[in-house]
Amino acid sequence: MTWRGAVLEVQAVPLRDNRGTMLGAICLARDVTQVRSMQEQVRRVEKLAAMGELAAGAAHEIRNPLTSIRGFIQLLQARAAGSHSDYFKIILSEIDRIDEIIRDLLLLARPSPPHRMETTLTILVEELLLLHQAEFERQGIAVVRDFNPNTATVDADVKMLRQLLLNLLINAGQAMPYGGNLGIRIAPAAEEGYVVIEVSDTGVGISPENLKRLFVPFFTTKEEGTGLGLALCYSIVQSHHGRIDVESQVGLGTTFRVTLPRR
Ligand SMILES: Nc1ncnc2c1ncn2[C@@H]1O[C@H](COP(=O)(O)OP(=O)(O)OP(=O)(O)O)[C@@H](O)[C@H]1O
Ligand SMILES: [Mg+2]
Repeated sequence: MTWRGAVLEVQAVPLRDNRGTMLGAICLARDVTQVRSMQEQVRRVEKLAAMGELAAGAAHEIRNPLTSIRGFIQLLQARAAGSHSDYFKIILSEIDRIDEIIRDLLLLARPSPPHRMETTLTILVEELLLLHQAEFERQGIAVVRDFNPNTATVDADVKMLRQLLLNLLINAGQAMPYGGNLGIRIAPAAEEGYVVIEVSDTGVGISPENLKRLFVPFFTTKEEGTGLGLALCYSIVQSHHGRIDVESQVGLGTTFRVTLPRR
C-alpha cells in the first residue's frame, strides 16, 4: 500500500494510569482521501451551478437590449435606402450571432426537462440530411447511411434530439473542408434496451489532448467557433439518460457515438 498523496485524519489520545502517569498514547489514523476528494467534487459542482445561474441571469438581461438594438438598426437600414448595405448586413449578422450564443448559453445553464415523445430516428436524421444536402454536395461530402431496419423508436424530446444531431453533423462537415465521407449508423446497441446513433467523418481528427476537453463549454479550435455545440450535446444526452462517446484519429477521422434508451 502506498500512502503518497493520501490524506489522513489523525487522532491521538494520551494513555495514563490511575495516578495520571503517562503510559503512552493511542494514535488513530483514518484514510480520508476519498471523502476529501468527494467533498472537493461537490464544492466544484456547487460552484459551477452558481456560475451557471449567474451566466444565465446575465445572458437573459443582455437579450432585451439586443432586441431593441436590432430593431433600431433595421430602422436605420430602411432609412439609409440602400447605402452602407454591407455594414448593415454585418451588424445584423453579428447581432444574430450574439443572440445564438446567448440562446445556447441559456440552454446549457438552465436545461429544461425533455418533453418526450415517440421519435423515429431515421425520419429525424433524413430530415436533417435534407437540410444540409446541398451544402454537403458543394463541399464534396458523400453521405453514407447504415440504418438498421430493426431499430426501434426512442422516447425523446424531438427539438433537443434535432439539436444534438445537427451539432454532430455540422462538426463532421466542418472537419472535412475538402470533402470526404460522412457516415450515419443507427442500430440497436450491444446493451439491451439501447439504440446507437453514430456520426462519423473522414476528416481532420482530434488530438488525444483535445479529446479530453471536447465537452467543456467554450472549448473550440475554430476561428468562428463558440465551443458550445458539444457541451450542449452532452447536456442533452444526459437529460435523456444516454451516453456520448468519441473515437478519433488525427488525419483519419472521428466517430461520435450516442447511446439512448429505446422506447
Ligand atoms: N467531427 C469532428 N472532427 C474534428 N474535430 C471535432 C469534431 N467535432 C468536434 N471537434 C472539435 O471539438 C471542438 C468543440 O466542438 P463544439 O461543437 O463544441 O464547438 P465548435 O464546433 O468549435 O463551435 P460551435 O459552438 O459553433 O459548435 C471543435 O472546435 C473541434 O476542435
Ligand atoms: Mg460545433
